Amino acid sequence: ASTLGTAAAAQGRYFGTAVAASHLGESPYVSTLDAEFTSVTPENEMKWDAVESSRGSFTFDAADRIVAHAQGKGMKVRGHTLVWHSQLPGWVGGLSASDLRSAMNNHITKVMQHYQGKIHSWDVVNEAFQDGSSGARRSSPFQDKLGNGFIEEAFRTARATDPNAKLCYNDYNTDGVNAKSNAVYAMVKDFKQRGVPIDCVGFQSHFNSNSPVPSDYRQNLQRFADLGVDVQITELDIEGSGSAQATSYGNVVKACLAVSRCTGITTWGITDKYSWRSSGTPLLFDDNYGKKPAYDAVLSALGGT
Ligand code: G3I
Repeated sequence: ASTLGTAAAAQGRYFGTAVAASHLGESPYVSTLDAEFTSVTPENEMKWDAVESSRGSFTFDAADRIVAHAQGKGMKVRGHTLVWHSQLPGWVGGLSASDLRSAMNNHITKVMQHYQGKIHSWDVVNEAFQDGSSGARRSSPFQDKLGNGFIEEAFRTARATDPNAKLCYNDYNTDGVNAKSNAVYAMVKDFKQRGVPIDCVGFQSHFNSNSPVPSDYRQNLQRFADLGVDVQITELDIEGSGSAQATSYGNVVKACLAVSRCTGITTWGITDKYSWRSSGTPLLFDDNYGKKPAYDAVLSALGGT
């Protein structure tokens, strides 16, 4: 296999990327996407502020363009994200608890219904835990007004809406074994024990010199898989360049392949030109869509040539 997507498929995995609708008119962007990737995640277009900026009024145009493109090319789509504290329109924070509960459930229901049958995995709840050693929940309108039960409620609503979509919890700085991943682990374990519907955990995997690829990455993915959920690498990017960056990328791929329930890898963008990191070169293709050493390392780790 000579592309990321075909090499990953030979390993029973998908290889995806975040996509921005605004770049779909740029021909090297689209040709690289189509040649190399087998799954897409809308980078911003399915977020609450993008689809329901005013209450009860839904706008799916930009996200629909990404989904239509992906479907036309036979790619999977990851849904990102239904309940998150960020990119949340102001009106949500102003609601009373009971109103917020119905707004959250209505949002999940309407967005999932719109994309029913088109999404392989949904990030139902994103980034609900704090960084650091506390293992505590992050403050948000949902946490502060609805309490710990909001995550469970979101997953139950999601399952009731689309029983065929895989339902994921997604977070960052949970890639190795640490206090934050321990807290997510405890939640997933509790959900599985009590029959709360959850199918997958997403590990964003935004790495840099302060937060390198953890040495216990594979072990951490495996302990989640052992709870009976799939694991996915959902937003991979690694700051750096050259052989050091390539080695780190290769290690991420090897960790996923070593875990049978690690079902796919998504990089958070195609080209360094459009990375969310305003400086730096964290992706597999350079500003001119040239393949970087990191690309070669990923392809090789996937068993491609
Ligand atoms: O939509 C407005 C547009 O109307 C305006 O003209 C433009 C001017 O700057 O801003 C646009 O909004 C930006 C949006 O991206 C769409 O481009 C926001 O300012 C900008 O903050 C936003 O950044 C996104 C960020 O999430 C927001 O938190 C990044 O593109 C996106 O890559 C990033 O993705 C997140 C994941 O969803 C969750 N995990 C972390 C990851 C990286 O931060």
